[in-house]
Amino acid sequence: MSCAHDTAEPRRVLEGVSVLSNERVTEGVGLLVLRAPHVASTVRPGQFVHLRIARGRDFVLRRPFSVHRVRGESIEILYQVLGTGTREMSLLEPGAVCDLVGPLGAGWIVPEGLAHALIVTGGLGAAPLGMLAEQLAASGAAVTVAMGAPTAERLVARGLYEDVARVVDVATDDGSAGVHGFVTALSERLLGEHQFDVVYCCGPEAMQRIVAAQAAVAGVACQVSLERLMACGIGACLSCVVSTHSGLKRACVDGPVFNAEEVLWDSSEIPPKH
Ligand SMILES: Cc1cc2nc3c(=O)[nH]c(=O)nc-3n(C[C@H](O)[C@H](O)[C@H](O)COP(=O)(O)OP(=O)(O)OC[C@H]3O[C@@H](n4cnc5c(N)ncnc54)[C@H](O)[C@@H]3O)c2cc1C
Ligand code: FES
Repeated sequence: MSCAHDTAEPRRVLEGVSVLSNERVTEGVGLLVLRAPHVASTVRPGQFVHLRIARGRDFVLRRPFSVHRVRGESIEILYQVLGTGTREMSLLEPGAVCDLVGPLGAGWIVPEGLAHALIVTGGLGAAPLGMLAEQLAASGAAVTVAMGAPTAERLVARGLYEDVARVVDVATDDGSAGVHGFVTALSERLLGEHQFDVVYCCGPEAMQRIVAAQAAVAGVACQVSLERLMACGIGACLSCVVSTHSGLKRACVDGPVFNAEEVLWDSSEIPPKH
C-alpha cells in the first residue's frame, strides 16, 4: 500500500506538559487536554504518547494513550478510567504539570488517491481515529463511520464523527441508540453496499478481528490498531509483541496500527478493555 503522507519519523521527545482541562465525558470516561506544543505539531493520526501521570511508585511505568485530536498547541486524550493510573488521571486539574514521551508508534496509513474510507469504532476505539477522520474529511475524502458501544451514552466522540463524516451509523448493545446489536453488523452491511478504498478499525480485539475478516471478504484493505501492555514504548522491552505473518512485531514501534492481513489473530494474547 502506498502512503500519501510523509513517512519520515517525527522526532520523539520527553515533553513537559500542562493540563488545560480535564472533563468528564460520560461515566468513567474523560477528556484530558494538554498543552504539548511538540507533540501537537508533529503527531500523526494513530500515534500515541507515553504519559507519566504522577510521581510515585505506582506511576513509574508510563501509560500509553492515543492522541485523539490536536488543537493548536494542545492535544486531546480521550480516556477510560480503569485502574490506578487512569483514576489518578481523572483527578488532574487545570494547571497540573506532568510529562510524556511522544509522538510514538506507527499511525494510520492513507493510501494515495483515497476517495472513500470506512471507519469502524468500538467503545474507546473511537479515540485513535478522531484525528484521522478530521484529516481525511479536510482532504476531501468521503468518510463513512460505523460506531458501536454498550449504550448511547458511551458512543464517545460521536459529535466529532458527525461533524466530519457523510454518514455515521451507530449500534448499541442495549438498543438505546441506532441498531440494537454489534457494530460488526453495520460494518458488514456497509461493506456490502458501498465501495471503500480502505477500512480503519479500532475497538475490542475480537471486534477488530471480525471487521478484518469482513474487509478481506469484500476485498478492501483494512488497518487495525492493537493494544498491548507497553512498558518502555520505544521498542526495547518486548512487552508489547504482536504475532504477524512476518514474525513478532512490537506494537509500540511497528504498530499500534497494523495491516489487518498481517496479523496472526489466533496468536493474539491480550484483548483490550475497550
Ligand atoms: C497504543 C495504545 C493506545 C492507547 N490509547 C488509549 C486511549 O486513547 N484511551 C484509553 O482510555 N486507553 C488507551 N490505551 C489503554 C491505556 O493505556 C490503559 O487503559 C492504561 O494504561 C491503564 O492504566 P491504569 O493505570 O489505569 O490501569 P492499571 O491499574 O495499570 O490496569 C488496569 C488495566 O489496564 C491494563 N494496562 C495497564 N497498563 C497498560 C499499558 N501500559 N498498556 C495497555 N494496557 C495497560 C491492565 O492490563 C489492566 O487490565 C491505549 C493503550 C495502548 C497500548
Ligand atoms: S513497549 Fe517496550 S518494546 Fe514495546
